[in-house]
Amino acid sequence: MVNIILLGPPGAGKGTQAKRLEEARGMVQLSTGDMLKEAIAKGTELGKRVEGIMARGELVTDDIVIGLIEAKMKDRARGGFIFDGFPRTLKQADALGDLLARTGETLDAVIEMQVDDAALVARITGRFTCGNCGAVYHDLTRPTKVPGVCDVCGSTNLKRRADDTEETLKTRLMEYYKKTSPLIGYYHAKGQLSAVDGLADAGVVASAIAKVLDKA
Ligand code: AP5
Repeated sequence: MVNIILLGPPGAGKGTQAKRLEEARGMVQLSTGDMLKEAIAKGTELGKRVEGIMARGELVTDDIVIGLIEAKMKDRARGGFIFDGFPRTLKQADALGDLLARTGETLDAVIEMQVDDAALVARITGRFTCGNCGAVYHDLTRPTKVPGVCDVCGSTNLKRRADDTEETLKTRLMEYYKKTSPLIGYYHAKGQLSAVDGLADAGVVASAIAKVLDKA
């Protein structure tokens, strides 16, 4: 069992690779972004609190996301956890370290997915997902086989995100560079960081991640 973090800016391919790892290795994806979007879709109190913040592309408060992760980590994951979009600040990174220590678990790898900003605009504005199973698609690089129908579960509930605009991406990227990119140095200093080329074909990225995990 291995626990890993997928670290990278919006559109780096974290969700795409997390889904592959779930299928290939029986790991469990813990995406704070997905948890928050679910709260918004259900109209919960939490959803109402975070909706505007997320639409603007800003980060929600540390305490909210730490609470979400803590609750999910109570269920054991046979193949280990994939932390996707968490941690995003140094406070969240410390909190994750404490949560793992409390349950006697380890963080086995932090995978930095390296991409350049120019590629992210095309990825973000072309993305759509299945509202039923969460499969991730792209208009050009990964369209569905049958237009309008999810390849994985057959649902026709395909959606685009409210924050997937070129304008909001600028704020999301700024938040990443200001608050999340310091984690690269943090995990490098701990000897836990490995980098992969996130611009490569998704299958090539998956093989590079597999190599890191096989050594972990
Ligand atoms: P979140 O949902 O985590 O979004 P994000 O980090 O902006 O990341 P994305 O989901 O946009 O990108 P991804 O890296 O998963 O890329 P994907 O695989 O989809 O967060 C949303 C918001 O929630 C935040 O802005 C914040 O407000 C809040 N939030 C969440 N967590 C938080 C936290 N911890 N603290 C505070 N606030 C938090 O791929 C993108 C596209 O590219 C897809 O179309 C895909 O098909 C395509 N693609 C993927 N890989 C490749 C490839 N190798 N080649 C070509 N195309 C590819």
